[in-house]
Amino acid sequence: MTIKSPIRSPPRSIETLRWNETSGRIELIDQRILPARFEMPGYDSAAAVANAIQSMVVRGAPAIGCAAAYGVAVEARRLRELASAGFAAGMASAFEVLANSRPTAVNLFWALQRMQTVLMSTQSQAPPAIADELLREAHAILAEDIRANRAMGVHGAALLPDTAQVLTHCNAGALATGGHGTALGVIRSAVEAGKRISVLADETRPLLQGARLTVWELQQDGIPVTLITDNMAGHMMQLGVVDAVIVGADRVAANGDFANKIGTYMVAVLAHRHRIPFYVAAPLSTIDRQLVDGRKIPIEERNDAEVRGFADQRWASADVGVRNPAFDVTPAELVTALITEKRVVLQPNSARIAALFD
Ligand code: MRU
Repeated sequence: MTIKSPIRSPPRSIETLRWNETSGRIELIDQRILPARFEMPGYDSAAAVANAIQSMVVRGAPAIGCAAAYGVAVEARRLRELASAGFAAGMASAFEVLANSRPTAVNLFWALQRMQTVLMSTQSQAPPAIADELLREAHAILAEDIRANRAMGVHGAALLPDTAQVLTHCNAGALATGGHGTALGVIRSAVEAGKRISVLADETRPLLQGARLTVWELQQDGIPVTLITDNMAGHMMQLGVVDAVIVGADRVAANGDFANKIGTYMVAVLAHRHRIPFYVAAPLSTIDRQLVDGRKIPIEERNDAEVRGFADQRWASADVGVRNPAFDVTPAELVTALITEKRVVLQPNSARIAALFD
């Protein structure tokens, strides 16, 4: 049996997004090629950042929000020598292209709204000064996200027993955020607090965020992780080796229903059947108070090719009909607790979620 050595120092942090002042580019870990290769290309226009979001170079709700903010900031920097009218028109197109990159994660629209507010409040200034303010706001959004994840980590870690095996679906880690992670942030914080936590990672078909990203991240930190295919979760619960489930969210409706990676609903139903606590870790920026419940959350449908195969491998016939919803909606009644940066909300419902914003 291989015994993993205990962590002796705080885990190294993964920088999913990094601002490069010299080049004026936002650098993003290319998550499409992990874990085979680690590359961090730079992006210097809103269209290039929107394309990186759409093609999932960067993914995960909070990371998408941070990337979109920098998409606005790099565009402002690129256009800052233009006269005010040209600059304003260019910025309007930047917001549009970024808003159309992916539909489900509300953090994208939340971050764009914050950037829009800064743009509006600086309208009387010259473009170079506006560009500086927009970059400052993008930095603030990134820093706040990391702080929120750390706070969620502390709140969530208290919910876990001293020794536990936690099942997670998709990747809600440092790679999906500005750093530390939401669901994996809770696990990291619990480990930092001295708890003995191991992780069961669902591989997460079709794009394998669990197998490729969650496993890679946890191995960087020396946190024990075991990989299972998605259809093994129920069996593992029956065997009694799952003590808790923690997932992230792409959008939480006002009543606590939430969208997350396709397959999350299945895991929540199984956890309920086996009386296993099911936790959702999400910052306030993921809560969409405009939607009364989960029924109106827009669910992204992606390319058929993602289901017929992976990368250049294809295992299904090219002419078979395919459905590829990237997310599903889990009703709030299946959620034991929503972990936010403000506090833990047990059995979330409309009143308890509204109280978070008081
Ligand atoms: O399609 P993805 O990889 O962007 O989906 C990501 C997820 O579903 C995550 O679980 C969610 O964004 C939470 S990330 C902290």
